[in-house]
Amino acid sequence: MSVSPQLFETVLTYPDPGMQARYAALCGLDEVQSHLRKEAETLLRPDLLEKWSQEHHGAQLPAIELLRRRPPLIVFAGDVGTGKTELALTFADPLAREMDLDIELYNLSLRARGSGAVGEMTRLISNAFAELRSHCPKRPERGRKPSGAAVLLIDEADALAQSRELVQMHHEDRAGVNALIRGIDDLANANLACLVIMCTNRLSALDPAVRRRAAAVFEFKRPALPLRKKLLTEQLAGAHLTEKDLTALAEILGEAKGRDYGFTFSDITQRLIPAIVLAAYPREKITGRLALSVAATMSPTPPFKAESGGS
Ligand SMILES: Nc1ncnc2c1ncn2[C@@H]1O[C@H](COP(=O)(O)OP(=O)(O)OP(=O)(O)O)[C@@H](O)[C@H]1O
Ligand SMILES: [Mg+2]
Repeated sequence: MSVSPQLFETVLTYPDPGMQARYAALCGLDEVQSHLRKEAETLLRPDLLEKWSQEHHGAQLPAIELLRRRPPLIVFAGDVGTGKTELALTFADPLAREMDLDIELYNLSLRARGSGAVGEMTRLISNAFAELRSHCPKRPERGRKPSGAAVLLIDEADALAQSRELVQMHHEDRAGVNALIRGIDDLANANLACLVIMCTNRLSALDPAVRRRAAAVFEFKRPALPLRKKLLTEQLAGAHLTEKDLTALAEILGEAKGRDYGFTFSDITQRLIPAIVLAAYPREKITGRLALSVAATMSPTPPFKAESGGS
């Protein structure tokens, strides 16, 4: 199927075994994952809610109609390197398997933000939503399942959906936010089997009208001590580090004197653990002492400043 490369970076299809493995490798997000699954499943397949209502209450509760009419928007908000993009790219896999549907994910291109020329952002966003609507299957009227579903991923949505209240916001950006809001409303009205996922570092900078439309907002945080230990234990399994070493290692990755934040997931998986392995390779083995000495030389990525305004 052809889509405009100017609008979408990639179109991914699910189920996909690679994404299945990446989804399974996410750690500490169980609550988000199970809640997200429910939200997504009922937004894409209201027929399952109808069935539930019938089975458990012997009637169609009016509430089902409220759920059906929600704008299909889900927001992932939180600090850098905490799994927002990773979950957004992989969650459609279990969903597709469980709902027995093919799902396509359209990854909105950063280029869709336009060059700032008058009307360009608005035009690109409107076109992206129009293209999504043309590809996305309808949700069938009652009691039946759709023939497929689509997800629109708007990653790093800050620039696109930042609050129109910000004084310094350029006129063109405001028009872009309006186009985004209209796009989301149109999707809801068109009754399509479709979801929009927006990822942002700054929930507070999201336009209130965008935020209000979200069926759910999930907050992502840096891993606390038990989770840091679990990550290390899993990734260094077989290296025979002692409990004591693993605890000490997990502890020094936390908050410390002079800094009120610890390591992010990506600090641990993409920087620390590879550095520990390379410190031992090729002649030594990994020891607790070696791991601790590597960790002592590293510092965590500073948090995204929530108060840094709109620039
Ligand atoms: N919960 C997690 N469990 C395991 N690994 C994780 C988790 N979260 C993040 N990672 C690792 O960190 C990498 C970066 O995560 P991701 O790109 O999802 O961060 P992000 O929240 O989108 O950050 P940013 O706000 O900077 O875009 C992932 O590819 C993965 O290797
Ligand atoms: Mg990201």
